[in-house]
Amino acid sequence: MSTLPSEIFLHDLHPSAADIRGDVLAGLTRRPKRLPSKYFYDARGSQLFECICELPEYYLTRAELALMRRHAPAIAAALGPRALLVEYGSGSATKTRLLLEHLADVAAYVPVEISRSALAASVAQLSRQFPLIEMLPVCADFTQPLALPEPARAPRRTVVYFPGSTIGNFEPEAAVQLLGRMRQTIGPGGAALIGVDLLKSSELIEAAYNDAAGVTAEFTLNLLQRLNRELHADFNLGAFRHRARYQPQRERIETHIISRTEQDVTVAARRFHFAAGEAMLVEISCKYSPQSFARIAARAGLRVTHVWSDPEALFSVLCLRPAGWSA
Ligand code: AVI
Repeated sequence: MSTLPSEIFLHDLHPSAADIRGDVLAGLTRRPKRLPSKYFYDARGSQLFECICELPEYYLTRAELALMRRHAPAIAAALGPRALLVEYGSGSATKTRLLLEHLADVAAYVPVEISRSALAASVAQLSRQFPLIEMLPVCADFTQPLALPEPARAPRRTVVYFPGSTIGNFEPEAAVQLLGRMRQTIGPGGAALIGVDLLKSSELIEAAYNDAAGVTAEFTLNLLQRLNRELHADFNLGAFRHRARYQPQRERIETHIISRTEQDVTVAARRFHFAAGEAMLVEISCKYSPQSFARIAARAGLRVTHVWSDPEALFSVLCLRPAGWSA
């Protein structure tokens, strides 16, 4: 596991065991049962997600990287100099590196990430590559309100970077709320740069979430392993399976954990019954067109000013500004 260079201070607002317990018990009590996908990202889950990003079927990361390689200079020019760059979910340092390489005179970089291990790994790597950029990592759940650390140098603007189509993991209402919070964070002169996976054939989408090597299935079931460890649960991983299916009417792929048999499971000293074949929703990944995403953004008071996409139009990166903004 990476450790942070000693001169970098980590602001630790990591969710407590009580937060996870409350969210999981509430989700297991719902009908149908449901668990929040944000808990996929413990150390093992973050590692597995990095492996997913390399899979031949998972086109999202490759397409976003191709797009960033091609358009980073134009993106940086649109965002402007001396930005405080706030990244939600620090993810793959490669995309951030492309942005940091092209942005002029970055005031500071603030990665906000729920997984302490993923945060430490990406900051350790980026601080080696950009020793002159102030790094202010925050270990926190970016879906909750949070106070950002103050950079040493005053920025001219705040830019929120939210790559990877993680916005797709939110129900439309929750996405509007999150975008609204971003609008508050960036203020009247700032911008949000969001990676959004585009609508495409259901075959291509389903293959990306059902890879032949079974890495995505392992990633999904690792959530149960985490609950076994952190909430003293007794899920038998062999008695559950992963299922990911595209729902064309809702323009999203839904991942469920399916109980293979009728069984009882104890979680945090409470017993839960699963019927044979019962499906528990653990993740949605919404797909958008630039137009449908602009409608969601407008509900949060944000306007799309630029859209960039990869040569195959699989993925897009959108620049959003507060609705009243003028250049
Ligand atoms: C992080 N997020 C955008 C990924 C996605 O595509 O929804 C998580 C993921 N789940 C399965 N594979 C990848």
